[in-house]
Amino acid sequence: MASKSIIKEKYLDLIKKLIKCDKFYFEKNSPIILDSEYDALKKQILDLENKYEFLNNKKSPSNKVGYKPSKSFEKFKHRVPMLSLSNAFYENDLVNFEKKIFNYLDSKLKFNYSVEPKIDGISASLIYKNNRLISGVSRGDGKIGEVITENLKTIKDIPIEIKSSTFPSEIEVRGEVFIKKKDFTRIQNNFANPRNAASGSLRQKDPKETKKIPLNFVAYTFGYIKNNPFKYQSQFLNELKNWGFKTNRDNIVLNDVNELMEFHKNFENKRFNLDYDVDGLVYKVNDLKLQNRLGFTSNSPRWAIAHKFSADSANTKVLNIEIQLGRTGALTPVAKVEPVNIGGVVVSNATLHNEDEIKRKDIRIGDIVKIERAGDVIPHVLEVDKNKRSKNSKPFDFPLRCPFCGSKTIKDFNKVTKKFDAVRRCLNENYKCEKIEIEKIKHFISKDALNIDGLGKKVVENFWELKLIKKPQDIFYLDYDRIKNLDGWGELSVTNLKSSIEKSKKISLQRFIYSIGIRHIGIENAKLISDSVQNVKNFVDIVQNNKFNQILNIDGIGETQINSLKNFFSIQRNINNLIELSKILVIENKILNQTGHLKNKSFMFTGKLDGISRAEAKSIIEQNSGMIISSINKNLNYLVAGDKPTKRKIEQAKKLNIKVISQKQLKILLK
Ligand code: IVH
Repeated sequence: MASKSIIKEKYLDLIKKLIKCDKFYFEKNSPIILDSEYDALKKQILDLENKYEFLNNKKSPSNKVGYKPSKSFEKFKHRVPMLSLSNAFYENDLVNFEKKIFNYLDSKLKFNYSVEPKIDGISASLIYKNNRLISGVSRGDGKIGEVITENLKTIKDIPIEIKSSTFPSEIEVRGEVFIKKKDFTRIQNNFANPRNAASGSLRQKDPKETKKIPLNFVAYTFGYIKNNPFKYQSQFLNELKNWGFKTNRDNIVLNDVNELMEFHKNFENKRFNLDYDVDGLVYKVNDLKLQNRLGFTSNSPRWAIAHKFSADSANTKVLNIEIQLGRTGALTPVAKVEPVNIGGVVVSNATLHNEDEIKRKDIRIGDIVKIERAGDVIPHVLEVDKNKRSKNSKPFDFPLRCPFCGSKTIKDFNKVTKKFDAVRRCLNENYKCEKIEIEKIKHFISKDALNIDGLGKKVVENFWELKLIKKPQDIFYLDYDRIKNLDGWGELSVTNLKSSIEKSKKISLQRFIYSIGIRHIGIENAKLISDSVQNVKNFVDIVQNNKFNQILNIDGIGETQINSLKNFFSIQRNINNLIELSKILVIENKILNQTGHLKNKSFMFTGKLDGISRAEAKSIIEQNSGMIISSINKNLNYLVAGDKPTKRKIEQAKKLNIKVISQKQLKILLK
């Protein structure tokens, strides 16, 4: 018998070959072998794995997350973003969800929920004009998708022409593309799970390939409708059926959290008998007017939530506990576990969250643990099987110094909760923690920041090692002649990299502020700051002249954020990076909707408003081009006094000749 190492070498060679074929087929659209040869190659790999248990590789077709999709589809900006949903796991999450709705609307309005099974597939958007399907688009990153019309047209559930007279002249119908369980069993050698099969199939270059895999489509929402006549989501779902779309037969309208919990419990048991995969239920506020009032946070609607089913889990052994370091210096422990298949995905890492979590659950190297994996959430350790623990096992010693640079680590004290943070952080004394610098660059190029195609985390690490980049702005002065000759690079990939870096230079102010990677300045806060400072010159001015208190004026930005900004920019190097970047990049000014009649008018609230929350009032004022600020100063135009206003604020306002108005007067102003 051939030795283990020879078998492994042969196995890895075959995988390499397969990857090369995939690349030519999917990315360049020019296959280098026949389909039959390709299938034979794949079978050879799978046969070897079946025969020799020690063979396993992330890139093997048995583990691979579907086929690598084509990169060459035309891009399309969604008219209305395709956002995701936030998740609920327990009853309490639902109670909180409902509470937030009542808080936002500031009243116990009666409403019910449209309840819909959450099929685990791939969402797609279908645009119809004058009763014909004119384009079909993938979700993409939620803002920009890819035109996959021809592939979608191969799905028999998708009507190409709609005869009904009630069909709007312009409408974007959204729904889920998925594969049925029984159809999946026929092709499961090629994909990790049904969802990947659907995704891979949808993004084939050749629609004939898509047609080979039987896909289905269920419609569940709209992006926009010209002259929308609908009042309720459930009404829209019914009409979809009349128009000839498939909708889920288990859709139902329910009244409150108790009913939701009950339905969820029953459906959870029933789901194994369904012929498609569901990973939870979606609850949507049924009244479309209320949906409209509630609106969105940056990632998800306030009016809907996904109630997940309990996750799959499996037992495995903790082989090691490694510490990862984030851009803010947070030390995150990760359990390296013996690879185990959980619900169709091979898991070999599980997050342990932080030092306290390890202590609380007493997780040790060598332990047998139960790992849970739910949808796209990172797998985590549920519990330790202490009966199976060996006698000489020892508690895990969490490092008190940074494992990468040796600096001191600390846990912050939270003044509000009066507790120490659960997270330990590297202090990065004297800027010596290289790892933090690398992580900052990774953040800089990440999807929500500069989003540079072809410059992934691995490439950043590689370029760092080769001293090609030391700080974010080095990305714009890369030595391409050198890169061209590096392993894995060539003329074409360098040209592509160059062009995507060039493209990334044009960036919104909000993304730019986020990309800097300041702790506590996530996308949402970056947007608040960007709305307020409006152009990068103002932002640099605030940073250079330490005028952070101007930002404190922004509603939604508090001391935590200000202290974090001050802290970050107390380091001259960070200021220098900011200035250099602001010169290299083309940062778009924040153009606020300045057509509303409250343009250049600023507002502040004191006391309780009646029948409307501050959040909603703020949103309405902003829709009319007004501004909300959070402290009284000479820039304030109106102080809106609700019930039980703070006397001091009213007096202060009067002293500065600021108009103090009632809610009624505000209403008049808004008209
Ligand atoms: S509504 C913003 N309804 O779940 C509204 N989504 O996490 C989101 N999904 O991307 C879409 N069934 O792929 C909606 N009945 C349903 C759904 C559903 C499955 C998927 C969809 C979406 C994801 C959101």
